[in-house]
Amino acid sequence: MKTTIYYFTGTGNSLKIAGDIASQLGETSLVPVQNAMKEKSAFSEDRIGLVFPVYMWGMPSIVSEFVKKLKIGKDKYVFAVVTCGGIPGAALLQLSKALKKQGVKLSAGFAIQMPGNYIPMYGAVSPEKQNKHFEKAVEKVKKIVEIVKKNGVCKPEASNFIINTLGSGIVYNLSMSHIHTMDKSFSVLDKCNSCGICVKVCPVENIKLENGKPVWQGKCEQCMSCIQWCPVEAIQYGKKTQGRKRYHHPEIKLAQIITRG
Ligand SMILES: Cc1cc2nc3c(=O)[nH]c(=O)nc-3n(C[C@H](O)[C@H](O)[C@H](O)COP(=O)(O)O)c2cc1C
Ligand code: SF4
Ligand code: SF4
Repeated sequence: MKTTIYYFTGTGNSLKIAGDIASQLGETSLVPVQNAMKEKSAFSEDRIGLVFPVYMWGMPSIVSEFVKKLKIGKDKYVFAVVTCGGIPGAALLQLSKALKKQGVKLSAGFAIQMPGNYIPMYGAVSPEKQNKHFEKAVEKVKKIVEIVKKNGVCKPEASNFIINTLGSGIVYNLSMSHIHTMDKSFSVLDKCNSCGICVKVCPVENIKLENGKPVWQGKCEQCMSCIQWCPVEAIQYGKKTQGRKRYHHPEIKLAQIITRG
C-alpha cells in the first residue's frame, strides 16, 4: 500500500519522526508541506500522513492553510502525528475539524514528545534529556506504525479541557492573528558571516540577505529554523536568546532541512 507523508519541520524533530514512520511502513514518500502547497497533488496514494510540530498548542499556520487546499477522496486513510515539547493541546483536534470541513476523516492522531525548540522561552535541554525523549519516541513510533499498517482507527490525542480552551483557543488565536509578523523580534549580531544558511533553511522564503545580513520579510511561520541552524549563533530573538543553547535534532542534517533547489 502506497503512503505519502506531508511534513513540516523547523528543527528536524518532525522530519525524524516522519522518516522513521516512512521507513517502517515501506513504499512511502516524504513531501515537505511548503513544496506540496506549490504543486497540484493528485493524491493517487492510498494512505496519507501528516507530521508537524505543535505551535501554541495548535497547528502551524502553514499546515492549516495546506489542509484548506487538500482535496483528498473520502476513501483515503488519513493519519497524523504531532511532535511537541510536552503539551500537544488541541492541535490534532484542530486538524480533525479542518479535515472534516474538507469531507475527510482523520482516522488516527498521535502526539510524540520531543525536545522543545521554542528558544524565545527556553534553551536546548541536555543531550541526556534529549536521548530520553528519543528513546521513548522510538517505542511510540513502533506502536503508531502497527496501527497505521492496519489502517487502524484511534482517537486524536489531546491535552485536557483547560489547556485546550485557554491555550489552543484563546492564546492560539491571539498568536496566530499576528504570527507572520512576529519576525520583528529577530535581530542579528555583527558576528554574522554572511553564509546564507538562514536564507536556505527558511521554509517560506522569509529571509533575504541585504548587505550580507539577514532581513526578515514579515511572512514568518515561527519555525525557529533560522535561529537554531545559524552556525555562529548570530541570530537572536528578543533580548533573552543570547547565550541560550541552540537545538536541532542531532540526526537530521542541514541538507535535509533545505527543501528548495
Ligand atoms: C512557535 C512554537 C510554538 C510551540 N508551541 C508548543 C506548544 O504549544 N506545546 C509544546 O509542547 N511544544 C511547543 N513547541 C515546541 C515544538 O512543538 C517541538 O519542539 C517540536 O518537536 C519541534 O518540531 P520540529 O523540530 O519538527 O520543528 C513550540 C515550538 C515553536 C517553534
Ligand atoms: S546563518 Fe547566521 S551567519 Fe549565516 S547569514 Fe544567517 S545570520 Fe549570518
Ligand atoms: S524566518 Fe526563521 S522562524 Fe520564520 S519561517 Fe523563516 S526560518 Fe522559520
